[in-house]
Amino acid sequence: MIGIIGAMDEEVAKLKEKMDDVKVETIAAMDFYEGNLKGHPVVVVRSGIGKVNAGMCTQILALKYNVDAIINTGIAGSLDADIDIGDIVLSTDTLEHDMDAVAFGYPVGQVPRMDTLSFVADEKLRNIAREVCNEVNPDISVFEGRIVSGDQFVSDKEKKEWLSSTFSGKCTEMEGAAIGHAAYLNGIPFLIIRAISDKADDSATVDYPTFEAKAIDHSVRLLLGLCERL
Ligand code: ADE
Repeated sequence: MIGIIGAMDEEVAKLKEKMDDVKVETIAAMDFYEGNLKGHPVVVVRSGIGKVNAGMCTQILALKYNVDAIINTGIAGSLDADIDIGDIVLSTDTLEHDMDAVAFGYPVGQVPRMDTLSFVADEKLRNIAREVCNEVNPDISVFEGRIVSGDQFVSDKEKKEWLSSTFSGKCTEMEGAAIGHAAYLNGIPFLIIRAISDKADDSATVDYPTFEAKAIDHSVRLLLGLCERL
């Protein structure tokens, strides 16, 4: 069974509509929709926004649903001039950009006393996602790279440049690294799939509401195609 997490209702609503044989259970104020999506057993859940919600949600998927893999679908701000609104980014790895124990000699982004700077996504899932994305979203580009997460909506140029130069991040959002972190601790393969809704700069608050729906459509189409293939 695959766990599918979206932070917001809008990001999972279309997936829920397409599910069969649905059973709903509420844990920690999150509704877990267990059933089939394109013939594949899944649990779809809206985690809520931010790293704590996302980490908790992942832990529930691990303990209660014993999922074999976790996919995070949603939207993000682009950190790379080549990655345009509507395009898709698949995570190679992910880290928490607001984790800072530099004072103790750790690189910014690394959780102290953990043995890794970033959490590495599942390569097989990523390869399948790339193929499916090219099939179902032929009009956009699909990129692969590091996704950086923090409890912050990034909407200024300086912060964006810092994220890009410090971490070589391709896009930024608010949950992926927490999902990767919790999946890593539980030994569960994961992939973050994000469609770009804005450029994470001074235009972000204007672009975000304008392009949110279009970006969500792209990630939902990819998710449905992915479930068909798995
Ligand atoms: N999700 C979508 N756009 C974002 C941004 N600019 N910063 C953080 N999360 C986002």
